[in-house]
Amino acid sequence: MRQPACSDLRDVKGQEGVKRVLEIAAAGGHNLILCGPPGSGKSMLAQRLPGLLPALSARELLEVSQIQSVAGLLERGRLSRARPFRAPHHSASMASLVGGGLKARPGEVSLAHNGVLFLDELPEFPAQVLDSLRQPLEAGEAIVSRANRHVRYPARFQLIGAMNPCKCGGGPGESACRRGPKCALNYQSRLSGPFVDRIDLFFDVAPVTAMDLALPAPSEGSEAAAARVAEARQAQAERFEGAGSDTRRPLNADAPVPELDRIAAPDAAGNALLADAAARLSLTARAYHRVLKVARTIADLDGSDGVRRIHLAEALSYRRRLPGSEDSPARASLAR
Ligand SMILES: Nc1ncnc2c1ncn2[C@@H]1O[C@H](COP(=O)(O)OP(=O)(O)O)[C@@H](O)[C@H]1O
Ligand SMILES: [Mg+2]
Repeated sequence: MRQPACSDLRDVKGQEGVKRVLEIAAAGGHNLILCGPPGSGKSMLAQRLPGLLPALSARELLEVSQIQSVAGLLERGRLSRARPFRAPHHSASMASLVGGGLKARPGEVSLAHNGVLFLDELPEFPAQVLDSLRQPLEAGEAIVSRANRHVRYPARFQLIGAMNPCKCGGGPGESACRRGPKCALNYQSRLSGPFVDRIDLFFDVAPVTAMDLALPAPSEGSEAAAARVAEARQAQAERFEGAGSDTRRPLNADAPVPELDRIAAPDAAGNALLADAAARLSLTARAYHRVLKVARTIADLDGSDGVRRIHLAEALSYRRRLPGSEDSPARASLAR
């Protein structure tokens, strides 16, 4: 289990695109998958997500400590207001991931409650393990069966996954995959449709270049990004306040679909773009709503009350690109 020790975005050179998508994920509570060759900094970036999130509120802290206590992890005096960050290995058992065992202990999904669950080498997780994440991803709780009763543990976490483009790694130059697009297709299709359906943001991480590494450390670090995230979260909290939202987080990722008309209705140009994209890319209803939620978050980071075309264009660029397909048509034709 890795706990990021004071990792700051300032350590990451170049990679402005990934930093941007990480900030969007943090701002709206969106699940994110990073896909890129080994060594491109995926793990390094994922570990920096908690640093962009606000400290736990008193209520959240209480929930986290209750779970840790049941799991037998709470040591006196070690309560921290930092968001949980859990990174189970892909060899972890189903019980350790979603909870279970003789004592019906909470699993990693619950230990990540109010924080981040990082799944590195995502396609290496057995299919049934990934499938078992669907329930907590959807409902925000894990149901652990024990003898003839069920125990419910909260499990509202933010998922960040990292993966190589193909089984062989698919690195640049010498380490490039020689088995063609089929290799990537096979590997990436290990993630089932219903699982992928719960991911809001996909990003292809480019290999880090020698030129990037030679750059001086960026002047902006996690603190500046976290301040923008906090502001965007404040806007969301105000919007959801009084809307009768249930116990869900006041974050765009959790916005109930019927609310989207009120909170994320795009302007005319945005609507036209979305209608066109929906037809051209055959967006499912689920994907359509996901794009709207992400666009709402991008608008919040932009300090914009309305969701405009530019926000939708960026949101569309984070849709999943099918293996072997060309660069996202949205991104290419709709540069900001
Ligand atoms: N953009 C970057 N800036 C600085 N160092 C980097 C960058 N990308 C990668 N590294 C270095 O390469 C190492 C490997 O990165 P890692 O996050 O493990 O890659 P991946 O998970 O994609 O295989 C990191 O520990 C870091 O030292
Ligand atoms: Mg890695």
